[in-house]
Amino acid sequence: MNTLNIEIITHPLVRHKLSLMRAKDCSTYKFRTLTSELARLMAYEACRDFEIEEFPMLGWDNTEFKGEQIVGKTVTIVPILRAGLGMLDGVLDLIPTAKISMVGLQRDEETLQPVPFFEKLVADVDRRPALIIDPMLATGGSMVATIDMLKEKGCSIIKALVLVAAPEGVRLVNEAHSDVKIYTASLDSHLNEDGYIIPGLGDAGDKIFGTK
Ligand code: PRP
Ligand code: URA
Repeated sequence: MNTLNIEIITHPLVRHKLSLMRAKDCSTYKFRTLTSELARLMAYEACRDFEIEEFPMLGWDNTEFKGEQIVGKTVTIVPILRAGLGMLDGVLDLIPTAKISMVGLQRDEETLQPVPFFEKLVADVDRRPALIIDPMLATGGSMVATIDMLKEKGCSIIKALVLVAAPEGVRLVNEAHSDVKIYTASLDSHLNEDGYIIPGLGDAGDKIFGTK
């Protein structure tokens, strides 16, 4: 595949907030707040192509008019534990009726392979679009494993929302699942020898939860 299936969200608010998160002295509170704010702004863009249908409504004065609604069932939001939880509130602000499917993956620090430890998808995941959320797309292993899990259960409309992506991860996801569009605030330069995104954000999970 020559063209990457990725949308870089370049809204000034997104760029400004992401820069604040990259600062070495960004506190846990600030990092967590910015993660949520960015998730909200980015989810707004990721929902832009949702299909709309008309339906008959009665207005305040009893006249009929055509209302508009999003077609189909509400999305299931899929946070990849643990760091993906940091984006959940922001996305729920926009889609409060969404159902939540949790996927737990821990990247092995030596092999960089995702190790699954939890999976609880909504029962009707085969009938809902899925919006996967995780701040970091590095090697892409965790994202590919999550998409595999969703597709195994019959989910067919999937989008991925990440704050920062590495080209290596985007390539892996695009090669394994060319139908899944990646929305990101930044396509960064590369991964370092430890599998961290450069310039990146550091360890997003540790920064959101204050574990380092
Ligand atoms: C981080 C991040 C992604 C994954 C990305 O999680 O939140 O889930 O690594 O790396 P990959 O693209 O190479 O798979 P981590 O496994 O460190 O766990 P955490 O959420 O508990 O910090
Ligand atoms: N996970 C993170 O939290 N940060 C990276 O740069 C890569 C993986």
